[in-house]
Amino acid sequence: MKSTAAKNIHLSISTHSKGKADCQVILYSNNTSIASLPIESWEKDKLKTKDKESLSTYSHRSQKGNILLVFIKDDEINKQKESARRMAAAALGELKKFEYRTVEISNQTNKKEISLAFAEGLALSNYQFLKYKTKKDYSLLQSIVITDKAVQSKDIDALNTVLEANKLAKDLVNEPLSYLTAVQLSKEIEKIGKEVGFSVKVLNKAAMQKLGMGGVLSVNLGSKTPPTFNIMEWKPKNAKNKKPYVLVGKGIVYDTGGLSLKPTPNSMDKMKCDMAGGAAVIGAMYAIAKTKMPLHVVALVPATDNRPGEDAYVPGDVITLHNGKTVEVLNTDAEGRLILGDALSYAQQYKPELVIDFATLTGAAAAAIGIQGAVMMGTADTKVKTDLQHAAASVHERMAEFPFWEEYGELIKSDVADIKNVGGPEAGSITAGKFLEHFVNYPWLHIDIAGPAFLTAPDHYRGKGGTGYGVRLLFEFFKNKC
Ligand code: BES
Ligand code: ZN
Ligand code: ZN
Repeated sequence: MKSTAAKNIHLSISTHSKGKADCQVILYSNNTSIASLPIESWEKDKLKTKDKESLSTYSHRSQKGNILLVFIKDDEINKQKESARRMAAAALGELKKFEYRTVEISNQTNKKEISLAFAEGLALSNYQFLKYKTKKDYSLLQSIVITDKAVQSKDIDALNTVLEANKLAKDLVNEPLSYLTAVQLSKEIEKIGKEVGFSVKVLNKAAMQKLGMGGVLSVNLGSKTPPTFNIMEWKPKNAKNKKPYVLVGKGIVYDTGGLSLKPTPNSMDKMKCDMAGGAAVIGAMYAIAKTKMPLHVVALVPATDNRPGEDAYVPGDVITLHNGKTVEVLNTDAEGRLILGDALSYAQQYKPELVIDFATLTGAAAAAIGIQGAVMMGTADTKVKTDLQHAAASVHERMAEFPFWEEYGELIKSDVADIKNVGGPEAGSITAGKFLEHFVNYPWLHIDIAGPAFLTAPDHYRGKGGTGYGVRLLFEFFKNKC
């Protein structure tokens, strides 16, 4: 992608302080004695009047050179990591105020994860999408050096890669439809595949017609631009898994709702984010291939816009998806499940170890738990769910598991077809999941990211707009499988 957005800051490791950075950040446990801090005594006196609680979230610029002290409360490690990321977001504000371009992080907490999380928080907060600004107000921070001796260069490499992957997903989500059509999305995927070495196959409309992908094709009927079906594959010789992991991402490059038009303003204006599931799996593939993970992973992204053009599919239509199941379309705005149905059915040929789909699928998921996490459900066993939750907690891209009881399936029975694409006013994210279940015959998890994929207000180190939710989660999950 020809993106002029600010580059992610470069993180580099050094085993000792070069003393060259504009600012020194020192991370402390909040149990550290104030007397030992490298600041003036009057500043120590000021700190002493603070209670422990406020000290844990206190960043302080010393008079003794450009030093920023950050105190992390003793706690369970994942909480400390998240606290470090959030403190980094606050610290970035300070660094910008003084126009510091380079920082050096040293760590007095004895946990290298805290140095890495702080650096990660700085880099994530430093993201900007400036491609369409004629005056580019670049973030000032350009480099971070971690002087923590416990941190190894492989930790830094992995962190740089996942940050690049997260940025890539954010950029894709933030791109408007005026640039990022389904065809353009495929070009971006091809470019990324070339860069990091995963293979890319793009099925065009004719190929999809041959395969009977009635979901993607029907959603595309109201559009002037053709759909694409994107297949990415990373299959290294040293792959540890015999059966591949398959990722599936919703690639609706814009969702107007189709003839069941979304009201605007409000519900339509952020719908360029409806390919955030696709962006998440593309970003994950980037990181997996770039770090040459010894895992066989495939990613599928069905892509189209959803529009009410003159040939658009209409409520009442009956369509046939890739596995031959018929669907009564009662709402053209429930389009995600139709394109995912094709993709999940296509995934069956891989006889996968596990399939995970990411999709901004339902407003109901966002209504239920908001922006704080994604909604998860599916048929994979407890061990898989536990592993994924473990990764989620580590990177703070959390998920709440929803019930997936059989009875919910009753709500999508149709009078005229096998199933219908809406399930009524109750349990909307679950009935969407139950719809998808009709297309799977393998262990599977569905992750509805409608809440956290795109923010309309900044939240700590997650800025406004695309968050890249899912990239850090998947990278962590797969890293633990290597
Ligand atoms: N793309 C939307 C879901 C969405 C909502 C994503 C808010 C991000 C933020 C999806 O295609 C949709 O419109 N779903 C409908 C389904 C309904 C018609 C059954 C919804 O949630 O209202
Ligand atoms: Zn929709
Ligand atoms: Zn949608």
